[in-house]
Amino acid sequence: MPWLHELRSGVFGGPIDEARVRAYWDSMSGSYASDASSGLVRFSHHRQHRAALGLSRPSPGRTALDAGAGTGLLSRRLLEVGCAVTAIDSSAEMVARLREITPTALRGRLEELDLDERFDDVYAIGVLNFVSAPAETLRRLCAHVREGGTLTLQVTELSPFGLLYWCTYLARGFRPFLFSQRWLCERARTHGLSPVASTRPFPHDLTICFRRSATAAAS
Ligand SMILES: C[S@@+](CC[C@H](N)C(=O)[O-])C[C@H]1O[C@@H](n2cnc3c(N)ncnc32)[C@H](O)[C@@H]1O
Repeated sequence: MPWLHELRSGVFGGPIDEARVRAYWDSMSGSYASDASSGLVRFSHHRQHRAALGLSRPSPGRTALDAGAGTGLLSRRLLEVGCAVTAIDSSAEMVARLREITPTALRGRLEELDLDERFDDVYAIGVLNFVSAPAETLRRLCAHVREGGTLTLQVTELSPFGLLYWCTYLARGFRPFLFSQRWLCERARTHGLSPVASTRPFPHDLTICFRRSATAAAS
């Protein structure tokens, strides 16, 4: 049974229909901005971003990459802290909104992420579940973390609550990936990053922060 194998391996879901995912996020760009979102959506974003910032503890002057940045809700908070933020997203509509926040807003697929710069803090909040090639995307995210820097991921977890949440996406017409904490840690270690802390802002969500040691070379 392939699904049983997937559950054991720590990655479940897919395949991702990228055109459908992009169309979905394009259509969400208007309501995703905090000003336009409902109280519940705003509450959940706030909680997820607070969890991510609580683990990574950004400080003024650091460089940050907000990967899969959406309308830039986290980018905005990083800019308020005093970080130099580069934001990237594959949805044209999201990037149009990002450009209102930061001039360094790029359009691109994380599966092909290949920037000239390495960052102090890399964030991928709520995006790894939707990419078509999660292992390759995670490798590229790790490669953009400089020595001593952090990578903070927030994913819907491969767990009973995560599977329940996953069903709500089935109703929207796509099959995101779910990940176990073990799988994420094993993959990140392969690329030179070690887990430092994790939390669950919601029962189905896992936020986990990794660090590249100050002496390690980027993979
Ligand atoms: C759940 S939203 C999260 C937005 C933002 N990180 C936040 O926390 O507010 C997911 C975002 O990932 C983007 N995305 C999905 N697949 C992507 C891909 N393959 N490459 C880049 N961005 C992607 C979507 O366009 C969307 O803006």
